[in-house]
Amino acid sequence: MRGRFIVLEGGDGSGKTTLAQTLAAALAADGQSVVATREPGGTPAGQALRALLLAADGPAFEPETELLLMTAARVQHVRQVIAPALARGAIVVCDRFVGSTLAYQGSGAGLDTARILALHRDFADDLWPDVTLLLDLPPELALARGRARLAASAANEGRFEARGLSFHARVRAGFLALARALPGWTVLDATQPADALLATARASLGA
Ligand SMILES: Nc1ncnc2c1ncn2[C@@H]1O[C@H](COP(=O)(O)OP(=O)(O)OP(=O)(O)O)[C@@H](O)[C@H]1O
Ligand SMILES: [Mg+2]
Repeated sequence: MRGRFIVLEGGDGSGKTTLAQTLAAALAADGQSVVATREPGGTPAGQALRALLLAADGPAFEPETELLLMTAARVQHVRQVIAPALARGAIVVCDRFVGSTLAYQGSGAGLDTARILALHRDFADDLWPDVTLLLDLPPELALARGRARLAASAANEGRFEARGLSFHARVRAGFLALARALPGWTVLDATQPADALLATARASLGA
């Protein structure tokens, strides 16, 4: 028995966390066993790495260091949370996964995709989502949303939002290229209101 591994991807402020919460709640209300989780994070070690990686005033990381720390958080998450949940037949709804590393550290920061894929294969058990929903919208719009959310919250997670528009444009193009190249990806128009986006997401999941 294997559950279903659903991942939400997209740029900063594209609405992933909002959709992950409403989608997980809708699936649970249908009586399904759902595990909602996120990256970086999802485990105690992952949370500690998240704080280090996302703090706007955190240390200056080389792109390779960022890649290794993101991957380290993912190894903990795959082994301790995602694979066990799938093994007991649960639906895992995950806010970001390896697609984000390919888009941010690969397309955004210029690291070689083959190295990212090799790390994923060698250390994260080469686990891939069954379905990936890509929330696509222009970075100008997404960043305005994301910055408003950060300003209204106590979370110190602004490191990636602080990068320039050209970085975020490369990330968006990277995500769209992944959606064309990888199986199981669907691109959703994330300019839709949240309730319409949830309905579109459920329709594309057949759920
Ligand atoms: N469909 C939507 N339409 C308009 N605003 C939205 C929509 N979805 C989410 N928002 C708002 O946009 C902001 C960012 O949303 P959210 O935190 O879900 O994005 P995210 O993709 O998780 O961002 P991050 O990558 O920074 O975690 C929030 O204030 C949220 O309320
Ligand atoms: Mg989020």
